[in-house]
Amino acid sequence: MAAGEGRGAGGLECREHLFKVLVIGELGVGKTSIIKRYVHQLFSQHYRATIGVDFALKVINWDSKTLVRLQLWDIAGQERFGNMTRVYYKEAVGALVVFDVTRGSTFEAVSKWKHDLDSKVLLPNGSPIPAVLLANKCDQKKDGSQNSSQMDQFCREGGFIGWFETSAKDNINIDEAARFLVENILANYKSFPNEENDVSKLKLDPDLLKADSKSQCC
Ligand code: GTP
Ligand code: MG
Repeated sequence: MAAGEGRGAGGLECREHLFKVLVIGELGVGKTSIIKRYVHQLFSQHYRATIGVDFALKVINWDSKTLVRLQLWDIAGQERFGNMTRVYYKEAVGALVVFDVTRGSTFEAVSKWKHDLDSKVLLPNGSPIPAVLLANKCDQKKDGSQNSSQMDQFCREGGFIGWFETSAKDNINIDEAARFLVENILANYKSFPNEENDVSKLKLDPDLLKADSKSQCC
């Protein structure tokens, strides 16, 4: 995570943040589709599994004084059993953990992903990075019977800051979920801004970039 200060066009002080956000979850749950929808307003039915990690950059004019750049790390679902996640998770300040409402097994895997995350990356103050749970493909018929209050309880117990039903296909709740995560990241940032000033920390590692160079956006 990084920040810089400068003067905007009107002479107002303006602050820029660069936040690394992970998007994780089982194979085929819709991580890439969520990012594509969020960053490029596109959706495709065609499934092409992510190999290794892919990147995208979303720039948000947060308010008149704040610019937020989200560096989104789209991590392959099939990497879970690999040993790369520790490298991928480094310096992340937030996460979207995705499951597919049409496949109950992907919900069961959510806790394993959250565990993996918390065991490999922490905020500078030692707490877990904020994570939002996304119940994706909500445009389709659900497999499983969790109601809203059970999901609330699951999030409280599992250490998620919140959850959203999303659809990358129909563009449901993706902006809202990302906004909610960024609000939390900014709140954390305010409590320890001085430890996070090194822009160079977030430069993309050329070795990681090699993993899948076709659809990088940053
Ligand atoms: P890996 O990279 O293999 O881990 O998969 P992923 O999580 O990135 O999944 P991806 O975004 O590639 O989507 C998998 C399939 O689900 C694709 O065929 C998408 O079109 C489809 N899909 C993704 N999101 C949605 C959604 O919200 N609704 C529906 N109906 N299909 C979706
Ligand atoms: Mg993918």
